[in-house]
Amino acid sequence: MKLVIAATGASGALYFQRLLAKIDPREHEVHVVLSAYAKQVIQEELDAFTLPEGVHLHSDKTMNVPFVSGSARFDAMVVVPCSMGTLGRIAAGTSDSTLLRAADVFLKERRKLVLVPRETPWNLIHARNVVTLTEAGAVILPASPSFYSRPKTLEELADTVVSRILDQLGLPDPGAYRWAETP
Ligand SMILES: Cc1cc2nc3c(=O)[nH]c(=O)nc-3n(C[C@H](O)[C@H](O)[C@H](O)COP(=O)(O)O)c2cc1C
Repeated sequence: MKLVIAATGASGALYFQRLLAKIDPREHEVHVVLSAYAKQVIQEELDAFTLPEGVHLHSDKTMNVPFVSGSARFDAMVVVPCSMGTLGRIAAGTSDSTLLRAADVFLKERRKLVLVPRETPWNLIHARNVVTLTEAGAVILPASPSFYSRPKTLEELADTVVSRILDQLGLPDPGAYRWAETP
């Protein structure tokens, strides 16, 4: 698969790190874009962060990357975590950064766009933007971890969300807990 994985300045850098760790860049072409605030939140929330070898990192201020054009054939884009600011900007179609233009392209080409927002509580603007994006074809996959698998670590808790993202991408997740299936 050809994938774009983007992170923004919402809390939840661990979801981004765990998702990247579960996608093999030797099997899939993985392109990463970070907003300026994503870099700040990664520093706040993670002790050490390095991109997996083989992943392609791009600036958020370039249009010289293939996935900002519909002519490049990509399979899916994930924004994890997705701030309410970025969610609103995608809903408004602003397209004035690499990340925002890429999301706009995935929507117009009817390609899979998975947004993983984290905010609580929501105001009416957040809720309306979620409706707009759902109507436009995006999958809104809130960073809402589950507890029925009895996660023991933060990583296991984060993986309850990451598994749902991998399911959306159609990628295997052998360790995923599946209700009434996992012993
Ligand atoms: C430590 C930290 C945590 C934040 N957590 C959230 C959050 O959970 N959700 C959110 O929408 N914004 C959050 N923000 C605010 C966003 O970073 C801010 O709105 C920023 O403008 C988002 O820009 P971006 O979408 O381009 O990354 C947080 C900011 C900081 C510094």
